[in-house]
Amino acid sequence: MTPRVYIRECARAACALFGLSRARSRWSAAVLRAYIRERARACASFSLPSTPARRSAAIVRTLLLAFSLTLPLAASPSEVAVLDLMVPDLRDLPSLQRGAKLFLNYCHGCHTLKYQRFERTADDLGIPHELFKQNLIFTGVKIGSLMDNSMDDQTSKNWFGAPPPDLTMVTRARRKEGSVGLFFQNLASGHHEGGGPSWVYTFLRSFYVDEARPFGVNNVVFPDVGMPNVLEALQGMQRLECQGRHACKLVLDDAGALTVEEFDQAMYDIVNFLWYTSEPSRLDRYRIGVYVLLFIVILGVFTYLLNREFWKDVHE
Ligand code: HEC
Repeated sequence: MTPRVYIRECARAACALFGLSRARSRWSAAVLRAYIRERARACASFSLPSTPARRSAAIVRTLLLAFSLTLPLAASPSEVAVLDLMVPDLRDLPSLQRGAKLFLNYCHGCHTLKYQRFERTADDLGIPHELFKQNLIFTGVKIGSLMDNSMDDQTSKNWFGAPPPDLTMVTRARRKEGSVGLFFQNLASGHHEGGGPSWVYTFLRSFYVDEARPFGVNNVVFPDVGMPNVLEALQGMQRLECQGRHACKLVLDDAGALTVEEFDQAMYDIVNFLWYTSEPSRLDRYRIGVYVLLFIVILGVFTYLLNREFWKDVHE
């Protein structure tokens, strides 16, 4: 087990433990208890990393987590505890390209990305304009257009009970925020942006059959959601299996076109792409940031030397 996995396991155990007292989500106390037991076992089976640097990093992160748990939390952490971890990787261009393709095929009919342009997407993702136009723009709009669609809010509200929201910023909008404790908890558990990407990732994989709902499906992460399970053909259909009144887990009933691993990868790609749209310049920002810091360090050296020169002849 690597230190990273160790920290994650311990952090999840701690989050789950903390969430237990305030469990508000559909996951019952029994599920959480089983979850904690499993995480705690993973946590206990670990011996500290051998190199001093890694050991200190592991200890610092665990302390951070412990510290965060002592602070009051604004949002319900129980939701954070049951989300599957999704760590975006914007350097993985093939993943972003697959994500864009999946999004435009499966989601764009209902959801807009109206703060993002087709052209910028093609450029950032390294897809030639011609190829993009031929394969990914279905409505014949110009490549410079915003990634809007023609669905009208009122009509879609009538159809689904709620209009499908714009998803440009969803991975950031779905973060939990509000307290210093939560910030440290997210840092320690590896969830990005307060668990925003992890929320969307888990949401997309958590639809299950529920005949009581208009479209025959419900969602563990977003109870009574208006969205139909548009991914059924890929994933298959899941069932929520409950033992006793509470302990529930999702079971795949009918397999879809993809295996579980392939489907998880596909959802990872979509969320990775949505993480990109939530701030297209993120990688530039990181890159430029390094130069800015280097510049400040070099300027600092010269400023120091200049300062020494100025004060050289002044004696107290
Ligand atoms: C048939 C139309 C339709 C399609 C296709 C569709 N959705 Fe949705 N989606 C909806 C509706 C309607 C809602 C709003 C549900 C509500 O508020 O109850 C929604 C909600 C969501 C939300 C929650 C947004 C939030 O923060 O409240 C996410 C995330 C989402 N969809 C992602 C996707 C992704 C990714 C795809 C493609 C794989 C997709 N959807 C395809 C109709 C659709």
